[in-house]
Amino acid sequence: MGNSKRIIAISGSIRKGSSNTNVLKTLAAFIPENIDYNIYNGIQELPHFNPDIDRIQAPTAVEDFRKTLAEAHALIICTPEYAKGVPGVLKNALEWLVSSAELYKKPVAVITASPSITGGDKAHESLLLTLGMLDVTIVQNGSVLISSVGTKFNKDATVTDEQTKQGLISLIHGILQELHD
Ligand SMILES: Cc1cc2nc3c(=O)[nH]c(=O)nc-3n(C[C@H](O)[C@H](O)[C@H](O)COP(=O)(O)O)c2cc1C
Repeated sequence: MGNSKRIIAISGSIRKGSSNTNVLKTLAAFIPENIDYNIYNGIQELPHFNPDIDRIQAPTAVEDFRKTLAEAHALIICTPEYAKGVPGVLKNALEWLVSSAELYKKPVAVITASPSITGGDKAHESLLLTLGMLDVTIVQNGSVLISSVGTKFNKDATVTDEQTKQGLISLIHGILQELHD
């Protein structure tokens, strides 16, 4: 484990039974076994971002989050769209990283999954803007919008739609390419 590459995944949904978390679980099937792949479940523990608190002493949950990302070699985010934007819990988590810069130039892939045929594009675009502000490296094929997510995955974290499967495999290849460079 010591020298192995680490990929951290974050779901923008903290809901039990989340379709986005299910997509992240699906990805494990496409990641080689010698790579450490974990879904970080702590973003709901983060307090609301406040630069005043950060200046004095970052809360423990924030330190844990920053350490996890500092030790990761790549990040994959999969998020729903809420009210035509990025879920507050995910945006809040990213705000904690702006000044500490754990994601600076780090390889990142972004998936937005929506149950509707047309949904998700606003959150996707907005998330990419925020990640641009954090100066991450979006990997090749690392931006995937999944519509009608409920029809493309089984509840046991398998992808049933071939086109979606190929998109996810390409996304993982994009990440792996950055890890080997
Ligand atoms: C308050 C609320 C707002 C939502 N807004 C949107 C939206 O703007 N666009 C969209 O595609 N889906 C929207 N949805 C539907 C979510 O995408 C859907 O509930 C999804 O399953 C949440 O992701 P999860 O399964 O990973 O928890 C909204 C759902 C809720 C409860």
